[in-house]
Amino acid sequence: MSYLEDLFSLAGRTAVVTGGSSGIGRGIATALARAGARVVLVARGREALDDTVRELTDLGCEATAVVGDLATRAGAQAAADDAAQPYGEPDVVVSSAGINLRPPMADVDAAVWDATMTVNLEAPFWFGQRFGPGMAGRGYGPLVHVSSQQAHRAFVTSSVYGVSKGGLESLARSQAEAWSPHGVTANTLVPGFVLTPLNQRLQQDPARVAALADRTLVGRNGVPADFAGAAVFLAGPASGYVTGQSIHVDGGFSVH
Ligand SMILES: NC(=O)c1ccc[n+]([C@@H]2O[C@H](COP(=O)([O-])OP(=O)(O)OC[C@H]3O[C@@H](n4cnc5c(N)ncnc54)[C@H](OP(=O)(O)O)[C@@H]3O)[C@@H](O)[C@H]2O)c1
Repeated sequence: MSYLEDLFSLAGRTAVVTGGSSGIGRGIATALARAGARVVLVARGREALDDTVRELTDLGCEATAVVGDLATRAGAQAAADDAAQPYGEPDVVVSSAGINLRPPMADVDAAVWDATMTVNLEAPFWFGQRFGPGMAGRGYGPLVHVSSQQAHRAFVTSSVYGVSKGGLESLARSQAEAWSPHGVTANTLVPGFVLTPLNQRLQQDPARVAALADRTLVGRNGVPADFAGAAVFLAGPASGYVTGQSIHVDGGFSVH
């Protein structure tokens, strides 16, 4: 094996990516698959899943999809079980599925709280409970979460969304404490503003989009491909001594 393969190759690995049919999750799934992993995508919409699998297969990668709804505890637990069916127990688990419902704080009701916390925080927890102990037993297993700059600051009615993302970064640290002595890493990627379907409404305002680009140090907003390198790093052997961390992939947004 070459030096770079030794550090970064995911050949022979299986990765589960929730939210792998769109935006950042799709970008990460593509990167892991192109680095050699067999990838299982999890989301609700069959059409976008099939489209992503087709795109990856056309690139010569191995990928399949599982339909699952992470908006309930039972759904998240069932989706984790189902995700292990196509290729067996995964080596890598990426939790990118997320929702941002954005009602003002005073209008957050039980339904918004439950949906946000379940998809954004509880589902990654259950995926960790399902796969973390097995990974620890095998001595390898990156858990990668996708948080948000809103875990660190209030921003455009962060409301319960920011709460869920703050919890997610704490979850990664707790998972690292539990399982890193046994070869598992748990880390969080922290995006800034990324052009994806999640924030399509905000994208209708070109002045706002330009202002957000100006707030970065790089001078542009993010795109899903920006997460490829960091995801391959966190999923592979090169990052074995990196755990419990929140890694900002945001063009410098968070330090400006
Ligand atoms: N875009 C940004 O600027 C930004 C910034 C910071 C953080 N993030 C975070 O990055 C992650 C990805 O966001 P994105 O921008 O890539 O969003 P996106 O393009 O809307 O993708 C979201 C993905 O999650 C899946 N999903 C949503 N609800 C689900 C559910 N109940 N069960 C299963 N899957 C579900 C979606 O598929 P289905 O709808 O078909 O289920 C889709 O695959 C999220 O955690 C988000 O909070 C995004």
